[in-house]
Amino acid sequence: MTIVTGVTVRVPAKLNLQLAVGPPRADGYHDLVTVFHAVSLFDEITAEPARRDGVSVSGEGADRVPADGDNLALRAVSALRAEMPSAPGVHVTIAKRIPVAAGLAGGSGDAAAALVACNELWAGGFGPPQLAEIAARVGSDVAFALLGGTAVGRGRGEQLTPALAPATQYHWVLAFADGHLSTPEVYAALDRQRAREQVPAEPGLDPALMSALRSGDARLVGRALSNDLQPAALSLFPALRKTLAAGLELGALGALVSGSGPTCVFLAASADRALDLAASLSGAGVCRSVARASGPAPGAAIISGAR
Ligand code: C5P
Repeated sequence: MTIVTGVTVRVPAKLNLQLAVGPPRADGYHDLVTVFHAVSLFDEITAEPARRDGVSVSGEGADRVPADGDNLALRAVSALRAEMPSAPGVHVTIAKRIPVAAGLAGGSGDAAAALVACNELWAGGFGPPQLAEIAARVGSDVAFALLGGTAVGRGRGEQLTPALAPATQYHWVLAFADGHLSTPEVYAALDRQRAREQVPAEPGLDPALMSALRSGDARLVGRALSNDLQPAALSLFPALRKTLAAGLELGALGALVSGSGPTCVFLAASADRALDLAASLSGAGVCRSVARASGPAPGAAIISGAR
């Protein structure tokens, strides 16, 4: 018998290359059509046997992550245990590099990583389809964090189809804001904005973006980036306009607010251009800090402690 004392999983941040949002549903969620894209900015989650379930968090924004049952990673542990009632206690340690409440699905990623780690630690034997189903119960973006790559999401974002695209690597610059946005508040702001305009149509996949992704041409991808939540995020966090404008002025191929924000993301033509853009943006004083990341990145994966 193999004894596993701890399992460490690495999980990527996500961007939305397109985020089309439909009208609010009866359950409070919105139907989406989105193109998820995982990038090489990773959290690391370790699961170890413990008498009781618990979580500790270190790194970027750790003080803003709940350390109780509200923690998404612990909610994922509970969701998996519902399928394995005799599973023992576990302590989850989260080393954060993905900023919290930044529109990068860091919390959802931590939940996905906890699922993968506990499935291994407990020898759960759940395969990707079963894990994806459990993930969808924990949050809208959790299933994508398991999958990684580039994928079209529908429903609440949990119904995924991998995008068929050449193996192009895209080079991104992420501008982290000095502040946070709450996802439900951004959706609510969008609903208010739309109440003053016409009722939104059912969301649809942007053919220009899909054809840009198939071509692997970063210039075309940059031009096709879109996010229906962006006007709402900008209304709540007007300083982001300046950040987006600065990145475009500095030569980004495209710019948008990531998910519900407030992180702004910029597509660069090459790794060198991304380096230049990151340096210039951090000098321009339009954000708290910058990072570079490439995508698509793989989904949640065990990096140590595998059986
Ligand atoms: O599913 P998750 O907990 O990540 O969603 C956070 C919040 O974002 C939801 O409570 C809801 O307010 C909003 N949301 C939404 N429609 C979606 C996904 C999220 O309205 N498709």
